[in-house]
Amino acid sequence: MAQILDGKKVSEAVQQELVQEVAALVAQGNRPGLAVVLVGDDPASKVYVGSKQRTCEKLGILSKSSILPASTTQQELLAVIDQYNADPEIHGILCQLPLPKGLNEAEVINRIDPAKDVDCFHPDNVGRVLIGEPRFLPCTPHGVVQIIKRYNIETEGKHVVVVGRSNIVGKPLAAMMMQKEYGSNMGCNSTVTVCHSATKNLPEVCASADILIAAIGKANFITADMVKPGAVVIDVGINRIDANNEKGYKLVGDVDYDAVAPKASSITPVPGGVGPMTIAMLMYNTVMSCKLHAKK
Ligand code: GUN
Repeated sequence: MAQILDGKKVSEAVQQELVQEVAALVAQGNRPGLAVVLVGDDPASKVYVGSKQRTCEKLGILSKSSILPASTTQQELLAVIDQYNADPEIHGILCQLPLPKGLNEAEVINRIDPAKDVDCFHPDNVGRVLIGEPRFLPCTPHGVVQIIKRYNIETEGKHVVVVGRSNIVGKPLAAMMMQKEYGSNMGCNSTVTVCHSATKNLPEVCASADILIAAIGKANFITADMVKPGAVVIDVGINRIDANNEKGYKLVGDVDYDAVAPKASSITPVPGGVGPMTIAMLMYNTVMSCKLHAKK
């Protein structure tokens, strides 16, 4: 049976390190601050936003939030972003996506001061990641890399197959896995293949991966025949499927865990794998941003 890559444990280790860093910054009069903007009432987004606020409190990070109705106009939303851009107590601004229909996501992302863009969604920051000179690293891809590094999984020269090409996960993760180094930090230096809905022979391509990363948002999409014996399997998916329980649903990944786990050398579970890492790396970026602002 595969080694389970415990993202919850890694997330807690990262948060432990951050508690110390926040305390040191506060002692110098620099408390890190994160602003969270939520528009509308998407249930999953509400859960994520609540969890981000609670984690800030736990680490001693100042948290401000704007919970806005779905009827908010583009101009009103941009005004909220402008207010946090100008707020010296705030070092990170996160606008929870997706936005309700009718609002222009790209314009909102572009409005966030790149020096406070702790999601790393602004084109300036996305470009910096691609050329290996990042200001921030995007939270979910960085969480994946932290799990891989902290479990001492060899990446150099390995064939990494990323299934999914989203702007939030697939594309930046592919860039990060191929990068040799980030300034003085080691990159992963892997050989990367990115697959998507038009990829021919998808099962064969996946089965050639030393490290298979699923980020497509389709429940149980990766089946055992798509996994090489001994591969490392990272499941970024969080999918709600109907279930006969109190909630009426349960969360499953993009990987058919029960079938794949016996074949893999190590695997992330869902929940408790990549999920908890996203918040940890968001807090990491907020603390980093506070340090960068304090230096100015
Ligand atoms: N929606 C899903 N994931 C994310 C994320 O990491 N950040 C933001 N802002 N919205 C999201």
